[in-house]
Amino acid sequence: MITLNTYLNEKNHTSPAIASAVSTIANVGVEISKLLQRGALADIHGEAGNQNVQGEEQKKLDVISNDLLLDALSANSVCAGVASEELDDATPANPNGEVLVLFDPLDGSSNIDINMSVGTIFSILPYQNQGSEVTNNDFLQTGRNQLASGYIVYGPSTMLAITFGNGVAMFSLDPASNEYVLIEEAVKISAATNEYAINASNYRHWLPPMQQYIDELIAGKDGVRGKNYNTRWVAAMVGDVHRILCRGGVFTYPFDTKDPKKPGKLRLMYEANPMALLIEQAGGLATDAVNNILDIEPTDIHQRVPVVLGSSEEVERVKALHA
Ligand code: AHG
Ligand code: MN
Ligand code: MN
Repeated sequence: MITLNTYLNEKNHTSPAIASAVSTIANVGVEISKLLQRGALADIHGEAGNQNVQGEEQKKLDVISNDLLLDALSANSVCAGVASEELDDATPANPNGEVLVLFDPLDGSSNIDINMSVGTIFSILPYQNQGSEVTNNDFLQTGRNQLASGYIVYGPSTMLAITFGNGVAMFSLDPASNEYVLIEEAVKISAATNEYAINASNYRHWLPPMQQYIDELIAGKDGVRGKNYNTRWVAAMVGDVHRILCRGGVFTYPFDTKDPKKPGKLRLMYEANPMALLIEQAGGLATDAVNNILDIEPTDIHQRVPVVLGSSEEVERVKALHA
């Protein structure tokens, strides 16, 4: 039995600073997991009564999870600063810290009140300005710079997936000991799949190549793809990505024309980038339909981006249709 702490302290996996940041995040994940287990009894359901910088209504658990991560990481000297979906700007921590941490504290907020899977997503970047207080600009690095990324999925069991840029490992939380236990190293995604995830209610807002792609999948055996496909949609990216790491598949929240200010729904820095690194490290692909997600030069910590990720044959097909 290998615990996360044992795994993190093995020198070949990562550096002590990154290990320490991951350990802090994982410990907060235990707290969030306990709150979710008590659900309504822990007073975590419902609205917080305010909006985040992106104009989204915050749920109570969005705010609670954000505060837990913010407090724990601010108290860890390796952390120079954090950026979060729920914080307008970067928050400075230790100016001499080695790493920057970005997070979506609670992904899949619409699932909280209905007792369905939600998650926490995190991305760790190097801090390149040690000695001075962090600003938003320090976080504007491409996904390729990530030192580590991962998620915690709070489902029937709580699981953590992580990459340090050398494969993907998966852990399961033992609620009796509060230890994450390694269950799989070298997670791999099959190149072929017959499962896809998309919110099809946005069909009329997609660009023609995305409409054509989904039309091809729905045509099944009778269409150009020559096989039948099945839809799965968790409404929490963490849940959909977790399923893809477990058994393959493709997930997309594509470009749409619903709101000209939003060229996609998901945020590059704390949703798309960390998931793209995991997916690539597991042998899959992640694109905005044209460019590799990890190569996109960020201009804003909250910028949105179209996302297509998962089994390589499907992602390649989407790219070919958009070329
Ligand atoms: P968040 O709860 O952090 O705002 O993210 C929700 C995202 C993503 O997790 C999920 O795939 C998608 O929004 C669900 O969108 P729909 O409500 O359009 O299905
Ligand atoms: Mn999210
Ligand atoms: Mn969120």
